[in-house]
Amino acid sequence: LAAKGTIVLLSIASKTKTKKKHFVAQKVKLFRASDPLLSVLMWGVNHSINELSHVQIPIMLMPDDFKAYSKIKVDNHLFNKENMPSHFKFKEYCPLVFRNLRERFSIDDQDFLNSLTRSSPMNSEAQGRSGARFHTSFDKRYVIKTISSEDVAEMHNILKKYHQFIVECHGNTLLPQFLGMYRLTVDGDETYMIVTRNVFSHRLSVYKKYDLKGSTVAREASDKEKAKELPTYKDNDFINDGQKIYIDGENKKMFLEKLRKDVEFLAQLKLMDYSLLVGIHDVERAEQEEVESEDNEAEEEGESDGGGIGTPPDSPSNTLDSTKPLSPGEFDPAIDVYAIKSNDSAPRKEIYFMAIIDILQHYDAKKKAAHAAKTVKHGAGAEISTVNPEQYSKRFYDFITTILS
Ligand SMILES: *[C@@H]1O[C@H](CO)[C@@H](O)[C@H](O)[C@H]1NC(C)=O
Ligand SMILES: *[C@@H]1O[C@H](CO)[C@@H](O)[C@H](O)[C@H]1NC(C)=O
Repeated sequence: LAAKGTIVLLSIASKTKTKKKHFVAQKVKLFRASDPLLSVLMWGVNHSINELSHVQIPIMLMPDDFKAYSKIKVDNHLFNKENMPSHFKFKEYCPLVFRNLRERFSIDDQDFLNSLTRSSPMNSEAQGRSGARFHTSFDKRYVIKTISSEDVAEMHNILKKYHQFIVECHGNTLLPQFLGMYRLTVDGDETYMIVTRNVFSHRLSVYKKYDLKGSTVAREASDKEKAKELPTYKDNDFINDGQKIYIDGENKKMFLEKLRKDVEFLAQLKLMDYSLLVGIHDVERAEQEEVESEDNEAEEEGESDGGGIGTPPDSPSNTLDSTKPLSPGEFDPAIDVYAIKSNDSAPRKEIYFMAIIDILQHYDAKKKAAHAAKTVKHGAGAEISTVNPEQYSKRFYDFITTILS
Protein backbone atom coordinates (compact mmCIF):
# COMPACT_ATOMS: atom_id res chain seq x y z
CA LEU A 1 0.00 0.00 0.00
CA ALA A 2 2.85 2.38 -0.64
CA ALA A 3 1.13 5.33 -2.16
CA LYS A 4 2.92 8.28 -3.47
CA GLY A 5 1.18 11.22 -4.90
CA THR A 6 1.70 14.86 -5.28
CA ILE A 7 -1.02 17.16 -4.26
CA VAL A 8 -1.06 20.77 -5.24
CA LEU A 9 -3.61 22.93 -3.63
CA LEU A 10 -4.33 26.35 -5.00
CA SER A 11 -6.72 28.77 -3.60
CA ILE A 12 -7.00 32.22 -4.99
CA ALA A 13 -8.85 34.03 -2.33
CA SER A 14 -8.44 32.15 0.86
CA LYS A 15 -5.40 32.48 3.03
CA THR A 16 -4.36 28.96 2.11
CA LYS A 17 -1.13 29.22 0.22
CA THR A 18 -0.04 26.97 -2.57
CA LYS A 19 1.37 23.92 -0.95
CA LYS A 20 2.67 20.52 -1.74
CA LYS A 21 2.26 17.55 0.38
CA HIS A 22 2.60 13.87 0.16
CA PHE A 23 -0.36 11.69 0.09
CA VAL A 24 -0.41 9.13 2.83
CA ALA A 25 -1.81 5.73 2.12
CA GLN A 26 -4.99 4.95 3.88
CA LYS A 27 -5.52 1.64 5.54
CA VAL A 28 -9.14 1.07 6.10
CA LYS A 29 -11.36 2.97 3.79
CA LEU A 30 -11.17 3.26 0.06
CA PHE A 31 -13.56 5.02 -2.19
CA ARG A 32 -15.09 2.48 -4.41
CA ALA A 33 -17.64 3.17 -7.07
CA SER A 34 -18.43 1.40 -10.29
CA ASP A 35 -17.83 4.62 -12.14
CA PRO A 36 -14.30 6.06 -11.76
CA LEU A 37 -15.81 9.51 -11.95
CA LEU A 38 -17.82 8.83 -8.83
CA SER A 39 -14.75 7.55 -7.03
CA VAL A 40 -13.03 10.80 -7.91
CA LEU A 41 -16.04 12.78 -6.73
CA MET A 42 -16.03 10.94 -3.41
CA TRP A 43 -12.30 11.42 -3.09
CA GLY A 44 -12.60 15.11 -3.95
CA VAL A 45 -15.45 15.86 -1.60
CA ASN A 46 -13.59 14.09 1.20
CA HIS A 47 -10.52 16.09 0.44
CA SER A 48 -12.35 19.37 0.14
CA ILE A 49 -14.43 19.07 3.31
CA ASN A 50 -11.38 18.02 5.27
CA GLU A 51 -9.36 20.92 3.95
CA LEU A 52 -12.17 23.34 4.69
CA SER A 53 -12.43 22.11 8.24
CA HIS A 54 -9.01 23.68 8.79
CA VAL A 55 -9.95 26.97 7.18
CA GLN A 56 -11.36 29.45 9.59
CA ILE A 57 -14.88 30.63 8.94
CA PRO A 58 -14.58 34.27 7.90
CA ILE A 59 -16.82 36.88 9.43
CA MET A 60 -18.08 37.68 6.02
CA LEU A 61 -17.46 36.53 2.49
CA MET A 62 -15.29 38.71 0.31
CA PRO A 63 -15.90 39.51 -3.36
CA ASP A 64 -12.94 37.34 -4.30
CA ASP A 65 -14.51 34.32 -2.62
CA PHE A 66 -17.04 34.30 -5.42
CA LYS A 67 -14.26 33.81 -7.96
CA ALA A 68 -12.05 31.52 -5.94
CA TYR A 69 -11.40 27.87 -6.44
CA SER A 70 -9.23 25.14 -5.06
CA LYS A 71 -7.51 22.68 -7.29
CA ILE A 72 -5.77 19.45 -6.67
CA LYS A 73 -3.93 17.12 -8.97
CA VAL A 74 -3.29 13.57 -7.98
CA ASP A 75 -0.74 11.42 -9.73
CA ASN A 76 0.16 7.83 -9.22
CA HIS A 77 -2.78 7.07 -7.13
CA LEU A 78 -1.64 3.50 -7.26
CA PHE A 79 -2.92 2.07 -4.06
CA ASN A 80 -6.50 1.98 -5.21
CA LYS A 81 -6.06 1.39 -8.87
CA GLU A 82 -9.03 -0.83 -9.58
CA ASN A 83 -11.37 1.80 -8.29
CA MET A 84 -9.65 5.07 -8.86
CA PRO A 85 -7.91 6.42 -11.93
CA SER A 86 -4.20 6.87 -11.17
CA HIS A 87 -4.25 10.40 -12.50
CA PHE A 88 -7.01 12.83 -11.88
CA LYS A 89 -7.74 16.42 -11.02
CA PHE A 90 -10.38 17.82 -8.77
CA LYS A 91 -11.40 21.43 -8.71
CA GLU A 92 -13.88 22.96 -6.36
CA TYR A 93 -15.46 26.27 -7.22
CA CYS A 94 -15.92 28.95 -4.59
CA PRO A 95 -15.36 26.63 -1.63
CA LEU A 96 -16.01 29.24 1.03
CA VAL A 97 -19.20 30.42 -0.61
CA PHE A 98 -20.63 26.92 -0.87
CA ARG A 99 -19.61 26.13 2.68
CA ASN A 100 -21.48 29.23 3.75
CA LEU A 101 -24.50 28.19 1.72
CA ARG A 102 -24.48 24.72 3.29
CA GLU A 103 -24.49 26.36 6.67
CA ARG A 104 -27.38 28.60 5.72
CA PHE A 105 -29.30 25.56 4.54
CA SER A 106 -28.56 23.92 7.91
CA ILE A 107 -26.35 21.24 6.45
CA ASP A 108 -23.48 20.14 8.61
CA ASP A 109 -20.29 19.63 6.63
CA GLN A 110 -19.51 16.29 8.24
CA ASP A 111 -23.01 15.04 7.46
CA PHE A 112 -22.63 16.30 3.92
CA LEU A 113 -19.34 14.45 3.64
CA ASN A 114 -20.87 11.27 5.02
CA SER A 115 -23.79 11.45 2.65
CA LEU A 116 -21.55 11.77 -0.35
CA THR A 117 -18.80 9.35 0.61
CA ARG A 118 -19.95 6.62 2.95
CA SER A 119 -21.23 4.74 -0.03
CA SER A 120 -21.16 5.46 -3.71
CA PRO A 121 -23.78 7.80 -5.15
CA MET A 122 -26.42 6.01 -7.19
CA ASN A 123 -27.61 6.56 -10.70
CA SER A 124 -30.90 8.33 -10.78
CA GLU A 125 -33.44 9.02 -13.44
CA ALA A 126 -35.73 10.63 -10.99
CA GLN A 127 -35.18 14.30 -11.57
CA GLY A 128 -34.84 17.04 -14.02
CA ARG A 129 -34.78 17.12 -17.74
CA SER A 130 -33.41 14.44 -19.92
CA GLY A 131 -29.91 14.73 -21.24
CA ALA A 132 -28.27 15.61 -17.97
CA ARG A 133 -26.84 12.84 -15.85
CA PHE A 134 -28.09 12.51 -12.34
CA HIS A 135 -27.00 10.73 -9.26
CA THR A 136 -28.30 10.81 -5.77
CA SER A 137 -26.18 10.34 -2.71
CA PHE A 138 -26.58 6.83 -1.33
CA ASP A 139 -28.86 8.19 1.40
CA LYS A 140 -30.88 10.11 -1.21
CA ARG A 141 -30.43 13.41 0.54
CA TYR A 142 -28.52 15.08 -2.24
CA VAL A 143 -28.70 15.16 -5.99
CA ILE A 144 -25.54 15.33 -8.06
CA LYS A 145 -26.11 16.69 -11.50
CA THR A 146 -23.65 16.72 -14.35
CA ILE A 147 -23.75 20.18 -15.86
CA SER A 148 -22.17 22.01 -18.78
CA SER A 149 -19.36 24.55 -18.66
CA GLU A 150 -21.99 27.14 -19.63
CA ASP A 151 -23.90 26.22 -16.48
CA VAL A 152 -20.73 26.69 -14.46
CA ALA A 153 -20.27 30.12 -16.01
CA GLU A 154 -23.90 31.00 -15.28
CA MET A 155 -23.50 29.85 -11.69
CA HIS A 156 -20.56 32.20 -11.33
CA ASN A 157 -22.67 34.99 -12.83
CA ILE A 158 -25.47 34.57 -10.36
CA LEU A 159 -23.66 33.26 -7.29
CA LYS A 160 -23.28 36.56 -5.47
CA LYS A 161 -26.89 37.55 -5.91
CA TYR A 162 -28.05 34.03 -5.17
CA HIS A 163 -26.05 34.05 -1.96
CA GLN A 164 -27.48 37.41 -1.00
CA PHE A 165 -30.97 36.14 -1.68
CA ILE A 166 -30.39 33.06 0.50
CA VAL A 167 -29.11 35.29 3.30
CA GLU A 168 -32.19 37.49 3.08
CA CYS A 169 -34.73 34.68 2.99
CA HIS A 170 -32.85 32.71 5.67
CA GLY A 171 -32.56 29.73 3.37
CA ASN A 172 -36.34 29.56 3.18
CA THR A 173 -36.80 29.18 -0.54
CA LEU A 174 -38.02 26.87 -3.27
CA LEU A 175 -34.95 27.61 -5.37
CA PRO A 176 -32.39 24.84 -5.71
CA GLN A 177 -30.12 24.64 -2.70
CA PHE A 178 -26.73 24.77 -4.34
CA LEU A 179 -24.25 23.04 -2.05
CA GLY A 180 -21.09 22.45 -4.02
CA MET A 181 -19.79 22.74 -7.56
CA TYR A 182 -16.86 20.75 -8.91
CA ARG A 183 -14.83 19.97 -11.97
CA LEU A 184 -13.43 16.48 -12.27
CA THR A 185 -10.72 15.68 -14.78
CA VAL A 186 -10.16 12.06 -15.63
CA ASP A 187 -8.24 10.97 -18.73
CA GLY A 188 -8.22 14.55 -19.91
CA ASP A 189 -12.00 14.71 -19.88
CA GLU A 190 -13.57 17.42 -17.82
CA THR A 191 -16.85 16.80 -16.08
CA TYR A 192 -18.71 19.45 -14.12
CA MET A 193 -20.97 18.54 -11.27
CA ILE A 194 -23.21 20.45 -8.96
CA VAL A 195 -24.74 19.15 -5.75
CA THR A 196 -28.16 20.25 -4.56
CA ARG A 197 -30.55 19.10 -1.90
CA ASN A 198 -32.93 16.45 -3.15
CA VAL A 199 -36.38 17.89 -3.79
CA PHE A 200 -37.90 14.52 -3.03
CA SER A 201 -37.69 12.69 0.22
CA HIS A 202 -34.80 10.53 1.28
CA ARG A 203 -37.29 7.93 2.46
CA LEU A 204 -40.82 8.56 1.21
CA SER A 205 -41.09 7.27 -2.34
CA VAL A 206 -42.70 9.29 -5.05
CA TYR A 207 -45.12 7.45 -7.32
CA LYS A 208 -45.96 10.32 -9.61
CA LYS A 209 -44.02 13.34 -10.70
CA TYR A 210 -44.54 16.40 -12.81
CA ASP A 211 -42.29 19.00 -14.33
CA LEU A 212 -44.41 22.13 -14.68
CA LYS A 213 -43.56 25.32 -16.52
CA GLY A 214 -46.88 27.05 -16.95
CA SER A 215 -46.80 26.62 -20.68
CA THR A 216 -49.02 24.28 -22.61
CA VAL A 217 -47.00 24.29 -25.81
CA ALA A 218 -45.46 20.86 -26.27
CA ARG A 219 -45.83 20.18 -22.59
CA GLU A 220 -46.78 16.53 -22.60
CA ALA A 221 -44.79 13.49 -21.65
CA SER A 222 -43.78 11.52 -24.73
CA ASP A 223 -44.79 7.88 -25.10
CA LYS A 224 -41.19 6.95 -24.52
CA GLU A 225 -41.20 8.92 -21.29
CA LYS A 226 -44.49 7.36 -20.21
CA ALA A 227 -43.02 3.90 -20.61
CA LYS A 228 -40.51 4.63 -17.85
CA GLU A 229 -40.94 3.40 -14.36
CA LEU A 230 -41.39 6.90 -13.02
CA PRO A 231 -42.21 9.13 -15.98
CA THR A 232 -41.89 12.87 -15.78
CA TYR A 233 -45.30 14.19 -16.66
CA LYS A 234 -45.83 17.76 -17.79
CA ASP A 235 -48.33 20.59 -17.71
CA ASN A 236 -50.86 19.14 -20.12
CA ASP A 237 -50.70 15.78 -18.40
CA PHE A 238 -51.40 17.48 -15.11
CA ILE A 239 -54.46 19.17 -16.55
CA ASN A 240 -55.70 16.12 -18.44
CA ASP A 241 -55.17 13.83 -15.44
CA GLY A 242 -57.32 16.15 -13.38
CA GLN A 243 -54.46 16.07 -10.93
CA LYS A 244 -54.91 18.03 -7.74
CA ILE A 245 -52.57 19.18 -5.03
CA TYR A 246 -54.58 19.18 -1.84
CA ILE A 247 -52.93 21.43 0.66
CA ASP A 248 -54.48 23.56 3.33
CA GLY A 249 -54.76 27.33 3.23
CA GLU A 250 -51.84 28.04 5.53
CA ASN A 251 -49.43 25.81 3.62
CA LYS A 252 -50.63 27.20 0.34
CA LYS A 253 -50.10 30.75 1.51
CA MET A 254 -46.57 30.03 2.69
CA PHE A 255 -45.74 28.12 -0.45
CA LEU A 256 -47.01 30.81 -2.82
CA GLU A 257 -45.29 33.53 -0.84
CA LYS A 258 -41.98 31.76 -1.29
CA LEU A 259 -42.69 31.01 -4.92
CA ARG A 260 -43.52 34.62 -5.67
CA LYS A 261 -40.27 35.90 -4.16
CA ASP A 262 -38.28 33.19 -5.88
CA VAL A 263 -39.61 33.83 -9.36
CA GLU A 264 -39.24 37.58 -8.94
CA PHE A 265 -35.62 36.96 -8.11
CA LEU A 266 -35.18 34.69 -11.12
CA ALA A 267 -36.77 37.27 -13.39
CA GLN A 268 -34.38 39.93 -12.06
CA LEU A 269 -31.49 37.69 -12.99
CA LYS A 270 -33.04 37.18 -16.41
CA LEU A 271 -33.31 33.47 -15.79
CA MET A 272 -36.13 31.47 -17.29
CA ASP A 273 -37.30 28.07 -18.46
CA TYR A 274 -37.13 26.71 -14.94
CA SER A 275 -39.71 24.23 -13.75
CA LEU A 276 -41.62 23.33 -10.68
CA LEU A 277 -40.78 19.75 -9.87
CA VAL A 278 -43.72 18.07 -8.17
CA GLY A 279 -43.53 14.66 -6.56
CA ILE A 280 -46.44 12.87 -4.94
CA HIS A 281 -46.11 10.30 -2.21
CA ASP A 282 -49.16 8.15 -1.52
CA VAL A 283 -49.03 7.05 2.08
CA GLU A 284 -51.17 3.92 1.84
CA ARG A 285 -49.69 2.81 -1.44
CA ALA A 286 -46.18 3.16 -0.03
CA GLU A 287 -47.10 1.09 3.00
CA GLN A 288 -48.45 -1.58 0.70
CA GLU A 289 -45.32 -1.55 -1.44
CA GLU A 290 -43.13 -1.76 1.59
CA VAL A 291 -44.86 -4.92 2.74
CA GLU A 292 -44.43 -6.40 -0.74
CA SER A 293 -40.78 -5.49 -1.04
CA GLU A 294 -40.03 -6.91 2.39
CA ASP A 295 -41.46 -10.18 1.15
CA ASN A 296 -39.25 -10.05 -1.93
CA GLU A 297 -36.13 -8.98 -0.14
CA ALA A 298 -35.90 -12.23 1.74
CA GLU A 299 -35.67 -14.06 -1.58
CA GLU A 300 -33.23 -11.73 -3.25
CA GLU A 301 -30.82 -11.59 -0.37
CA GLY A 302 -27.27 -12.27 -1.40
CA GLU A 303 -27.74 -11.50 -5.06
CA SER A 304 -25.59 -8.79 -6.48
CA ASP A 305 -27.33 -6.31 -8.70
CA GLY A 306 -24.16 -5.01 -10.30
CA GLY A 307 -25.83 -1.67 -10.39
CA GLY A 308 -22.97 0.38 -9.12
CA ILE A 309 -23.71 0.48 -5.47
CA GLY A 310 -20.38 0.62 -3.77
CA THR A 311 -19.07 -0.18 -0.39
CA PRO A 312 -21.91 -0.35 2.05
CA PRO A 313 -21.80 2.02 4.96
CA ASP A 314 -19.28 0.58 7.34
CA SER A 315 -19.03 3.14 10.02
CA PRO A 316 -20.60 2.02 13.26
CA SER A 317 -21.54 5.50 14.32
CA ASN A 318 -24.58 6.32 12.35
CA THR A 319 -24.82 10.03 12.59
CA LEU A 320 -27.29 10.26 9.77
CA ASP A 321 -30.18 8.45 11.28
CA SER A 322 -32.82 10.53 12.89
CA THR A 323 -33.27 9.82 16.53
CA LYS A 324 -36.90 8.88 16.58
CA PRO A 325 -38.50 6.47 14.15
CA LEU A 326 -41.11 7.92 11.87
CA SER A 327 -44.42 6.29 11.12
CA PRO A 328 -45.73 6.01 7.55
CA GLY A 329 -46.26 9.32 5.82
CA GLU A 330 -44.36 11.22 8.46
CA PHE A 331 -41.29 13.20 7.66
CA ASP A 332 -38.64 15.28 9.34
CA PRO A 333 -39.17 18.80 7.99
CA ALA A 334 -35.52 19.59 8.71
CA ILE A 335 -34.49 16.98 6.14
CA ASP A 336 -37.42 16.78 3.76
CA VAL A 337 -37.63 20.53 3.59
CA TYR A 338 -39.99 20.64 0.62
CA ALA A 339 -42.58 18.23 1.99
CA ILE A 340 -46.18 19.34 2.48
CA LYS A 341 -48.94 17.10 3.82
CA SER A 342 -52.24 16.77 2.02
CA ASN A 343 -55.20 18.52 3.61
CA ASP A 344 -58.26 17.01 5.28
CA SER A 345 -60.40 17.00 2.18
CA ALA A 346 -57.88 15.06 0.08
CA PRO A 347 -59.26 11.70 -1.14
CA ARG A 348 -55.96 10.01 -0.23
CA LYS A 349 -53.36 10.76 2.35
CA GLU A 350 -50.49 12.19 0.33
CA ILE A 351 -47.28 14.10 0.77
CA TYR A 352 -46.23 16.59 -1.87
CA PHE A 353 -42.69 17.62 -2.71
CA MET A 354 -42.48 20.79 -4.74
CA ALA A 355 -39.54 23.00 -5.63
CA ILE A 356 -38.04 24.93 -8.49
CA ILE A 357 -35.40 23.21 -10.63
CA ASP A 358 -33.29 23.97 -13.70
CA ILE A 359 -32.82 27.66 -13.09
CA LEU A 360 -29.60 28.21 -15.02
CA GLN A 361 -31.06 29.15 -18.37
CA HIS A 362 -30.24 32.77 -19.10
CA TYR A 363 -32.43 34.75 -21.44
CA ASP A 364 -29.57 36.05 -23.59
CA ALA A 365 -27.98 32.63 -23.97
CA LYS A 366 -31.35 31.19 -24.83
CA LYS A 367 -31.96 33.81 -27.47
CA LYS A 368 -28.59 33.16 -29.00
CA ALA A 369 -29.06 29.41 -28.98
CA ALA A 370 -32.56 29.76 -30.30
CA HIS A 371 -31.36 31.89 -33.14
CA ALA A 372 -28.71 29.34 -34.05
CA ALA A 373 -31.08 26.41 -33.76
CA LYS A 374 -33.90 28.13 -35.54
CA THR A 375 -33.01 27.20 -39.05
CA VAL A 376 -31.55 23.84 -38.11
CA LYS A 377 -34.18 22.21 -36.01
CA HIS A 378 -37.31 24.14 -35.36
CA GLY A 379 -38.02 25.33 -38.87
CA ALA A 380 -39.70 28.66 -38.66
CA GLY A 381 -39.00 28.76 -34.96
CA ALA A 382 -42.58 28.30 -33.85
CA GLU A 383 -41.34 26.55 -30.72
CA ILE A 384 -39.20 29.43 -29.69
CA SER A 385 -41.31 31.51 -27.49
CA THR A 386 -40.96 35.25 -27.49
CA VAL A 387 -41.57 35.25 -23.78
CA ASN A 388 -39.05 37.19 -21.72
CA PRO A 389 -38.00 36.31 -18.16
CA GLU A 390 -40.50 38.71 -16.62
CA GLN A 391 -43.39 37.23 -18.59
CA TYR A 392 -42.12 33.76 -17.98
CA SER A 393 -42.13 34.28 -14.22
CA LYS A 394 -45.67 35.66 -14.24
CA ARG A 395 -47.03 32.87 -16.40
CA PHE A 396 -45.24 30.31 -14.27
CA TYR A 397 -46.53 31.78 -11.02
CA ASP A 398 -50.09 32.09 -12.32
CA PHE A 399 -50.14 28.50 -13.48
CA ILE A 400 -48.84 27.19 -10.18
CA THR A 401 -51.48 29.24 -8.38
CA THR A 402 -54.18 27.54 -10.40
CA ILE A 403 -52.92 24.03 -9.69
CA LEU A 404 -53.12 24.66 -5.95
CA SER A 405 -56.79 25.54 -5.87
C1 LIG B 1 -10.35 11.55 3.50
O1 LIG B 1 -9.54 12.67 3.82
C2 LIG B 1 -8.74 12.51 4.98
C3 LIG B 1 -8.06 13.82 5.25
O2 LIG B 1 -7.44 14.34 4.09
C4 LIG B 1 -7.77 11.37 4.77
O3 LIG B 1 -7.00 11.17 5.94
C5 LIG B 1 -8.55 10.11 4.45
O4 LIG B 1 -7.67 9.06 4.17
C6 LIG B 1 -9.47 10.33 3.26
N1 LIG B 1 -10.27 9.16 3.06
C7 LIG B 1 -10.14 8.40 1.99
C8 LIG B 1 -10.97 7.17 1.99
O5 LIG B 1 -9.41 8.67 1.06
C1 LIG C 1 -57.71 21.01 0.12
O1 LIG C 1 -57.16 21.22 -1.17
C2 LIG C 1 -58.08 21.36 -2.20
C3 LIG C 1 -57.34 21.42 -3.51
O2 LIG C 1 -56.39 22.45 -3.53
C4 LIG C 1 -58.94 22.61 -1.97
O3 LIG C 1 -59.90 22.72 -2.99
C5 LIG C 1 -59.63 22.45 -0.62
O4 LIG C 1 -60.32 23.64 -0.32
C6 LIG C 1 -58.62 22.17 0.49
N1 LIG C 1 -59.32 21.86 1.71
C7 LIG C 1 -58.92 22.27 2.91
C8 LIG C 1 -59.69 21.76 4.07
O5 LIG C 1 -57.98 23.04 3.08
